[in-house]
Amino acid sequence: MNTELVQNIKQKFQSNFKGIPEMVFSPGRINLIGEHTDYNDGFVFPAAIDKGIVAALNKSNSSTCKVIAYDLDEALNFSLDHLQAIDNGGWRNYIIGVVAEIQNKGKALGNFNFVFGGDIPSGAGLSSSAALENSVVFGLNELFNLGLTKNEMIIISQKAEHNYVGVKCGIMDQYASMFGQKDSALLLDCENLNAQTIAIDLKDYEILLINSNVNHSLAESAYNERRGVCEKVAALLNIKSLRAASENDLLSIKDKITESDYQKAIYILQENQRVLEAYDALKKNNIADFGALLYASHKGMQHQYEISCAELDFLVDATRDSDFILGSRMMGGGFGGCTINIIHKASILEFSTKIKRAYQAKFDTECSIYNITISEGTHLI
Ligand code: GLA
Repeated sequence: MNTELVQNIKQKFQSNFKGIPEMVFSPGRINLIGEHTDYNDGFVFPAAIDKGIVAALNKSNSSTCKVIAYDLDEALNFSLDHLQAIDNGGWRNYIIGVVAEIQNKGKALGNFNFVFGGDIPSGAGLSSSAALENSVVFGLNELFNLGLTKNEMIIISQKAEHNYVGVKCGIMDQYASMFGQKDSALLLDCENLNAQTIAIDLKDYEILLINSNVNHSLAESAYNERRGVCEKVAALLNIKSLRAASENDLLSIKDKITESDYQKAIYILQENQRVLEAYDALKKNNIADFGALLYASHKGMQHQYEISCAELDFLVDATRDSDFILGSRMMGGGFGGCTINIIHKASILEFSTKIKRAYQAKFDTECSIYNITISEGTHLI
């Protein structure tokens, strides 16, 4: 965890409010494989990372709640009786949404002060949103002894995003951020929220993230559209979600849907299968097979689910001829953010220099490279 950030948040709190705050760290996440499968009741394979949101909070005697976003130097005051999403409210709606959803669950809150800051670049696809939501619900649960379980907390975070931010996200990000375990990834079955934990030891290889630094404004509406397609196909099949569908089922309704929707639904079925195969490959220490599944996943997202972009495809393609990279794919919701790469430790430096230069030459902008450490989920500091 970033101790400098913790100090900065504490100081900012103390220079604005009286009393000693509770301190919370809530991480972002990576996802090894399994994209857009979560809202189809499918499988995902995420892990929490050592970067995320640090929050300081305490109870307040004032008549409103006061929130400070340290990084942006912005503030929000609100009354617990008048909770409404703010047009173009950005980070504000995550906070308001979580507070409102806690109240909707019949839990009583008092006024509070809250200061937060983070070290995840926003738009990187590392779930700074889920980290923020979880920091709020986890912190308030502690402060007001709400007695919420972690499962209840992540559902509150997810509802905040659905109802106050407008993104119909699945549960992967909130789950990984809340339940993450040091050095381990979580094979999560989103149908019942059962997870199996597996230690991640890639031997001579490491996970390297490359941020395209692309953050498309259409990403949110395209995300909801993809979800809409999956729900439409599931409804045609009379099933709750695509988790329950087989490729034969899809064939049986092929003439009732467009080719594009058919490909999207097939992608979900195949991606679910890849997640299970990836878990098996890692269990057998077969990192080459694991890597090949990452490439296959990217292909599906690029051509079937259509959520990639030129920059992400370029970053993945640039790894294909390197025998020191076993796998690469775009990660997260799509249309920008990071690729995840499985790279030999000895080649990281050389490859990083090469890819930065090539990306700059092609797009006239920089990509950023991150090493990550797999870490513990949301906790008190
Ligand atoms: C975003 C959403 C998640 C998940 C991923 C894609 O991160 O918040 O629920 O759907 O995209 O796998």
